[in-house]
Amino acid sequence: MGTIYDSSRHLLSLVEELLESREGENLRIDVTGAGVGIPAAQLDAVFEKFTQLKTADVVTAGLAPQESVFAPFLALTGGYGLQWRVMIQLKNLSKTYSTRGVEHTALEDVSLTIEDGDIFGIIGISGAGKSTLVRCINLLEKPTSGSVVIDGVDVTGFDGRQLSDLRATIGMIFQDFNLFAQRTVLENVTFPLEIRGDDRADRERRGMELLDLVGLSAKAKQYPSQLSGGQQQRVSIARALANHPRVILCDEATSALDSLTTNSVLKLLRQINREMGVTMVVITHEIGVVEKICNRVAVIDGSRIVEQGMAADVLADPSAEVTRRLLGRVRWDA
Ligand SMILES: Nc1ncnc2c1ncn2[C@@H]1O[C@H](COP(=O)(O)OP(=O)(O)O)[C@@H](O)[C@H]1O
Ligand SMILES: [Mg+2]
Repeated sequence: MGTIYDSSRHLLSLVEELLESREGENLRIDVTGAGVGIPAAQLDAVFEKFTQLKTADVVTAGLAPQESVFAPFLALTGGYGLQWRVMIQLKNLSKTYSTRGVEHTALEDVSLTIEDGDIFGIIGISGAGKSTLVRCINLLEKPTSGSVVIDGVDVTGFDGRQLSDLRATIGMIFQDFNLFAQRTVLENVTFPLEIRGDDRADRERRGMELLDLVGLSAKAKQYPSQLSGGQQQRVSIARALANHPRVILCDEATSALDSLTTNSVLKLLRQINREMGVTMVVITHEIGVVEKICNRVAVIDGSRIVEQGMAADVLADPSAEVTRRLLGRVRWDA
């Protein structure tokens, strides 16, 4: 195997790039992975690209089980490898809360694979278990059983220093922004760096860079209460990025915002995903959020995952009743 493209990008764009950069050369592609990020609706376009590729090199997209649709490419060998890295893997995760002797199961046997570079949506109605699920990923909640694997490392049993180091690489954004009212915008953004012990000049430089990224450098010296909801969420996004996270968890990040502000925050998240390669887990009860930015989605209902797949596929042909309801395909009063 030659060069390994550790890629989270859409296969189609990778194929296009290869065709461009190696123009005139012979190139051959072998896609052995199923979950390689191609919505069924786009397969034709991908295959059309394949037919432009000739023989010589091979691109292998590993990881997921082989799918018959790729069978024609499986026979090829040697050349280039394309590896989709798994960023988060949840294996048979369950969480039971016990309140004054009463048990409540908030998650039951949840298994998910989130790849590097995904914007992975987790959608469900209120009480479905979404927040519990996302809090299990960074172990703010301890799973009752099952495991959490992050970037190949089983972190389920982490505590103390290991756990705080892990959390530093996972940013989190909440519905209600969770900013410190007594700190300026800049001091909010630099807070994680202060915890880490960076000196003032370094963290202010990084803080201003991040405020610039989210379009708020002019507000650095103001306080959260002087900002609109959308601006406050941008500050919390900047703060989540301070530690160069590999993953950002968003729990209903746009649920307190009006629709236009929601769109601009979603665009910012998508930009961060594309330009910085940060994997995003997006918890929401709004199907529009999934439609707009998620490449994959899992639907959670009554503590269980009831369906999952490429967002385009699930939205086009939902199988679970709750998904159809969320899509407005079931009469609201039915
Ligand atoms: N700390 C807790 N103690 C007891 N029950 C909880 C706790 N957190 C959540 N729950 C219960 O677990 C279920 C799922 O909650 P949650 O994960 O917050 O759902 P969602 O975010 O989808 O609205 C709910 O029935 C909720 O009441
Ligand atoms: Mg919630």
